[in-house]
Amino acid sequence: ADALRVALAGLGTVGGGVIRLLDTNRDLITRRAGRPIEVVAVSARDRTKDRGVDLSRFDWVDDTAALATHEKADVVVELIGGSDGPALTLARNTLAAGRGFVTANKAMLAHHGLELAQKAEGAGVPLKFEAAVAGGIPVIKGLREGAAANVISNVYGILNGTCNFILSKMEAEGRDFAEVLAEAQALGYAEADPSFDIDGVDAAHKLSILAAIAFGTQPAFDDVAISGIRHVLAADIAEAAALGYRVRLVGVGEAGPHGLFQRVHPHLIPLDHPLAHVTGSTNAVVAQGNFVGRLLFQGAGAGDGPTASAVVADLIDIARGEFGPAFAMPAASLVQEKPADAGER
Ligand code: HSE
Repeated sequence: ADALRVALAGLGTVGGGVIRLLDTNRDLITRRAGRPIEVVAVSARDRTKDRGVDLSRFDWVDDTAALATHEKADVVVELIGGSDGPALTLARNTLAAGRGFVTANKAMLAHHGLELAQKAEGAGVPLKFEAAVAGGIPVIKGLREGAAANVISNVYGILNGTCNFILSKMEAEGRDFAEVLAEAQALGYAEADPSFDIDGVDAAHKLSILAAIAFGTQPAFDDVAISGIRHVLAADIAEAAALGYRVRLVGVGEAGPHGLFQRVHPHLIPLDHPLAHVTGSTNAVVAQGNFVGRLLFQGAGAGDGPTASAVVADLIDIARGEFGPAFAMPAASLVQEKPADAGER
């Protein structure tokens, strides 16, 4: 069968991972997808940087925006990041050109998810973003498809590996926030702007996407109440531990009788709850459905391998022709729901 031809925008850690994964597991992926998945064109800022993969076999495109209409490509994979700017332009142009779009860009989906879902649906093409939330954990698919028959009452989780790494390390070593932050950044999980991690913005981006899928609403980032971990002290963590709790940055989406609550802030987690045992840069997501009961998803929320795994899973779905509406419901039926306490904050 004809290959699914991919144009790749952005060759950072994840972009390199996607190429390596497609090379390493080529035969298996071809069998599962029913046809080969081939990268045909790439675009990135620095052409000369060594990414440990042979790029000479791909068309090199200097103008990223041109990937949207690249003559050989069926699908664009966007790994540039940023809620607006080149990533958004590429998304709009790709969908307008009637091609599928796969992205790891949580910030863009949190702010423009509804518009992009409408454009994808209008064009009858896939918009897929497994890698945007919790890296390698198939939580989008889990909620969108696996739990599709359920009324979901809440979805919550540890959605930022950088914060979880910092909090775990503060706890284990009794150290203060500022000391540990530099180590987390050195590990490469942090956002380009690390304040997005530590101030809870990145977790809020991801929560707004999960909430949209769980509750049939549009992503509504502006409705998330956010507070990060900057002011958490080693002493707070020690005191919590003495009382039988751990401190975790948790994003919570809850459907209540008066509407939807979305919030991200440091929580005290009792030791008998699974989230208390999620340490280091690991992510975890819990969802409660009315027939399935409580689900727990856990795994690597960042890094080249796990995130590439999610990107390629989306490509396999597209290669098979299996894709539904981006946020589990047709875009026209995604309601804009305000949190119940919107007037009080
Ligand atoms: N900065 C993010 C994190 C990367 O620390 O979890 C994955 O989205």
